[in-house]
Amino acid sequence: MSINHKPYDQPNSLQRRQVLATAAALGIAPWLLTAFSGQARAATDEGGKPATPQTTSGQRRKLGKLDVFPVGLGCQWRPGAAQGVVNDLYHSTFDRPAAVALIRKAVERGVTLIDTAEVYGPFLSEEIVGEALQGIRDKVAIETKFGMNVDMKTGQRLGGLNSRPEHIRQVVEAQLRRLRTDRIDVLLQHRVDPLVPIEDVAGTVKDLVAEGKVLHFGLSEPGIQTIRRAHAVLPLAVIQNEYSMLYRGPEAQVLPICEELGIGFVSWSPLGMGFLTGTVTADTRFKTGPEMDFRAMVPRFAPEALPANMALVNVVKSWARQKDATPAQLALAWLLAQKPWIVPIPGTTNVAHMEENIGAAEITFTPDELRRLNIQVASVSIRGERLPTAVMQMSNVEAPPKR
Ligand SMILES: NC(=O)c1ccc[n+]([C@@H]2O[C@H](COP(=O)([O-])OP(=O)(O)OC[C@H]3O[C@@H](n4cnc5c(N)ncnc54)[C@H](OP(=O)(O)O)[C@@H]3O)[C@@H](O)[C@H]2O)c1
Repeated sequence: MSINHKPYDQPNSLQRRQVLATAAALGIAPWLLTAFSGQARAATDEGGKPATPQTTSGQRRKLGKLDVFPVGLGCQWRPGAAQGVVNDLYHSTFDRPAAVALIRKAVERGVTLIDTAEVYGPFLSEEIVGEALQGIRDKVAIETKFGMNVDMKTGQRLGGLNSRPEHIRQVVEAQLRRLRTDRIDVLLQHRVDPLVPIEDVAGTVKDLVAEGKVLHFGLSEPGIQTIRRAHAVLPLAVIQNEYSMLYRGPEAQVLPICEELGIGFVSWSPLGMGFLTGTVTADTRFKTGPEMDFRAMVPRFAPEALPANMALVNVVKSWARQKDATPAQLALAWLLAQKPWIVPIPGTTNVAHMEENIGAAEITFTPDELRRLNIQVASVSIRGERLPTAVMQMSNVEAPPKR
């Protein structure tokens, strides 16, 4: 399946002008109007043909050959302490019906890329995505991942990685069941397995593509040579790495190779794990213990790093005011402005935040604004690593050679 969308019947510029004029007349921010226009259009699409456009922005982005709305939705949740409670990795909590409703609302608003993984939960996030997409499956592209070493029966995380070909096949069969679908739109290796040649991984996914169980292939946080080797076996649609104003590592090598090879880029933690939304202050301390906030383990959020890093939040807030946007929207719009084939997947448990985030697709910068904003972002030097050391060690890994 491809998420190909009919072009709108009006040129984008005209449509955008109308949105801006109407928003101005109503005295509301343009993104708010866009979100509600999406709802009206979606209602007529319910039960109709797959994947017709549902927002007024008319924008689409290419991830390889896949065509998606510019802002996706991250679904990374784990079970809470009590039955039915669902937690994110940070401070938010909701329940399963609310998680299902959030995804359905995102699709109604026009989101077409839903990101999840076997290990998120484990299994729970894929189960929720599968439940939420009943009846609306054809409107979206599901992106999910294999490769963390999870006991397939118990869901226990065994530590380390597992991308052995026979294991990938078993994981994909289980994912199709949990996601209640017959195909995975984008299947990613979550982290490069240092014991398995990438040619074997790509070859296995290629077979799954031939069988119609997978449509597109991607890698998350791979080494540069591994990208080239995988792409030679099966063209990659997606590299999914952390990328935001808070962490700009991919600009050095990964974005150039994506550009060279025609690979799309999906940015994870595009809001800097919530930091760029302005909800973290220099005094914020993150929950520890069994239901810990993941940021409690991340060096850039440590008490000694936060005061210096707040300089970036000040840049975001000041530009958000200038652009009549929220800080979250400004941070996402900055990502969208870097390359036309970048798609952020903000995670949220909150419908209002989701609606706000997709409004970022309406915010554009003039070349001069972008130049000035980039200079200000680059002038802040971020203190502290982006991840705990043990997690960092799984990034930028090169797969062993094929013998
Ligand atoms: N490939 C990988 O290795 C990898 C790694 C990590 C994540 N991911 C994917 O990337 C997705 C997103 O990353 P992430 O969740 O780590 O980080 P993120 O999207 O940068 O930030 C999520 C945080 O921002 C808050 N937030 C979202 N929208 C907001 C808004 N408009 N205003 C205020 N707060 C807002 C959320 O809280 P609320 O719930 O309160 O909105 C949550 O605390 C994940 O869901 C997952 O699918 C992939």
